[in-house]
Amino acid sequence: MAQQTRNIAGGYRREGSEIHPPYLYPDYKGTRLRAPKKPLIIVPHTLSELTGPLFGHTGIGPLDNDLTRQHEGEPLGERIIVHGRVMDEDGRPVRNSLIEIWQANAAGRYAHKGDQHPAPLDPNFSGAGRCMTDDEGYYRFITIKPGAYPWGNHPNAWRPAHIHFSLFGPAFATRLVTQMYFPGDPLFYQDPIFQSVRDPKAQKRLISTFDLETTVPEWALAFRFDIVLRGRDATPFERPHA
Ligand SMILES: [Fe+2]
Repeated sequence: MAQQTRNIAGGYRREGSEIHPPYLYPDYKGTRLRAPKKPLIIVPHTLSELTGPLFGHTGIGPLDNDLTRQHEGEPLGERIIVHGRVMDEDGRPVRNSLIEIWQANAAGRYAHKGDQHPAPLDPNFSGAGRCMTDDEGYYRFITIKPGAYPWGNHPNAWRPAHIHFSLFGPAFATRLVTQMYFPGDPLFYQDPIFQSVRDPKAQKRLISTFDLETTVPEWALAFRFDIVLRGRDATPFERPHA
């Protein structure tokens, strides 16, 4: 799947592309430390990368895609539906594929000891969910809109509100990670992670669209985020680093 498509010669294709952010983007401080300093060595894929392990429906609970029902009470914040389709470059659905998301709470804080941002934790929000795409490549999450948070990359640096996505694909070697943003966020211009995607058209593909049709009256707004795994219209993906 994705940047890597299985080919007969025995490996997932690794696509170089201008769509995806570079390993080194100096304004994004972390890339200065982790960007490879030497030319990459291509490690041939072996049978274990090509054949699995696979993640099936059996490991997914019926409420794993609803981040608002993982605790006794409901989390604080604006309830939203996040949904879309995962497609290959020809618009064909990517079926039965694991999607995982993780995000900050409505106040912009992660439920993680590494996050010491002085914003309240929400005892009713863990901020992680997962689901499998269906036969149409469709997925759907219920969650709350995450808040922006400061991150110290540069003076007064704030991340625009975002949800992290991991698309697992058929094997470990095909895992892809990206971030979904919300339309009209005033913080895009100063965010080097968002700006490290240089092509404005590709940047746009990281921003969900408000989807009035899918909103549920009196209950939740909806945002649509379609993901294209490769080709000219590919969704930008982060370079693997961790
Ligand atoms: Fe984040």
